[in-house]
Amino acid sequence: MNKKFHIVTTGCQMNVLDSELAAALLISRGYTKAESQKEAEVILFNTCSVREHAEEKIYSALGRLKHWKSHHPDGVIGVFGCMAQKDRWVIFRRAPHVDVVVGPGQLDRLPDLVEAASMGEGPQMAVSIDRFRKRESAGAVRESFRQYDPIRLSETRPRLFQAMVRIMFGCDRFCSYCIVPSVRGPEQSRPADEIVREIRTLADQGCVEVTLLGQSVNLYKSQEGGKTVALADLLERIDGIGGIRRVRFVSNYPTGMTDALLQAVRDLPTAVPYLHVPAQHGADSVLKRMNRHYTAAQYRELTARIYETIPGAAITSDFIVGFCGETEEEFQETVRLVRDTRFKNSFIFKYSERSGTKSAELFDDDVPDEVKRRRNNELLAVQDAISAEAHRALVGRTVEILVDGRGKKDGQLSGRTPTDRIVVFDGPDSLIGTFQTMEIVDSTPFTLFGQIKSSGDAGSDDGKRGG
Ligand code: SAH
Ligand code: SF4
Ligand code: F3S
Repeated sequence: MNKKFHIVTTGCQMNVLDSELAAALLISRGYTKAESQKEAEVILFNTCSVREHAEEKIYSALGRLKHWKSHHPDGVIGVFGCMAQKDRWVIFRRAPHVDVVVGPGQLDRLPDLVEAASMGEGPQMAVSIDRFRKRESAGAVRESFRQYDPIRLSETRPRLFQAMVRIMFGCDRFCSYCIVPSVRGPEQSRPADEIVREIRTLADQGCVEVTLLGQSVNLYKSQEGGKTVALADLLERIDGIGGIRRVRFVSNYPTGMTDALLQAVRDLPTAVPYLHVPAQHGADSVLKRMNRHYTAAQYRELTARIYETIPGAAITSDFIVGFCGETEEEFQETVRLVRDTRFKNSFIFKYSERSGTKSAELFDDDVPDEVKRRRNNELLAVQDAISAEAHRALVGRTVEILVDGRGKKDGQLSGRTPTDRIVVFDGPDSLIGTFQTMEIVDSTPFTLFGQIKSSGDAGSDDGKRGG
């Protein structure tokens, strides 16, 4: 098959990685990447179900393609990712011109199904077994969520020198608001040697920075020769792979932050001192309704331990505002947590009820939307003030960045510090993909502005090793 394809990606980094892998699968079967959606004969949507808004946007985009399909009877429209697993037949019902539906656990079947649809074999679907269906064995369910064929083609990555690597599938935390455990299936860690092999391949392709992905990545656990391999051990193994300069991992579940892991981050030259540890809320009553297994005090202890163990560490978090029954007092506890913890950044979401989750079943989505919006803005303002202050304190300091692309203005480049802060500066495109030592000369809440001091490995002041 030599058709041109285009993939539209929404959702989290897992989906960004899946789109890369899907592209690699299609290319290995003779397909080519279209320059744009306009030129594509196969249009694929990699979808997210975490909030309603994300799904509605996909259905609108699908609706707009009805006309395209009537003019391109040989064209193929496919939906893969989390919404494909969650909505399945609903997609064919709401958008009958869709040809292919593939769940995230069945990604490797995408090329076959696209091919069958192009041959006029009618609607095609491959989804994992519903994990709540009692009749199925746990093993069969697990298996159906881990179809995986990680062909790493450098041409499918936006940047040759950066890559994401999945180390875990699925999630078993069952936070009451969250759809992920049902659409991504049971939690499973990939074998360590398989991960190390994949990262070696990436390093051979010129990759210097890897981001390890898992829904609770710090709970990674695999067995090897009768021994348990934890994330700290895996980081050590990756640290020994030639060419890899930076390793980070997302997302962390607050109760799994062991001392061994924090020490590994402190001691391993490649592990960057940047930790995304979503708190979700600052009130114990709400954390309980959310089925998060820690208290606000325990979360505070954890962040204190992180700052103590890893000097200069940056912590980021996710928060949900307007969760079922959230009172103003409860919300203010989140505000206090953000004020006290001094996160590098917080990603704030308005609660969105998802059918099939515990919170949809047990609680009313009773916080009015304008209250959610107000709380969202209030929390954002608190966080922005903290970010602005932290950035101002970095002016005059030296940081090491990996230059990862162009800035917004002509002649500008952009890079990231070890603690994931964005630095914008003037420089030639030839520096993209290199490490540079920068002096910070100005800042906004979201961006640092720098000047090149020297090329290479000199020390810096942002986070450990100065960096
Ligand atoms: N496994 C990751 C993140 C998964 S989804 C983790 O636990 O960190 C990313 C973020 O979306 C979550 O951290 C949460 O803040 C938010 N989220 C999940 N379900 C949501 C919902 N129903 N409404 C609003 N935000 C939600
Ligand atoms: Fe969702 Fe919680 Fe799992 Fe994260 S840990 S994916 S928020 S259930
Ligand atoms: Fe969305 Fe699926 Fe990620 S629901 S947030 S794309 S795991």
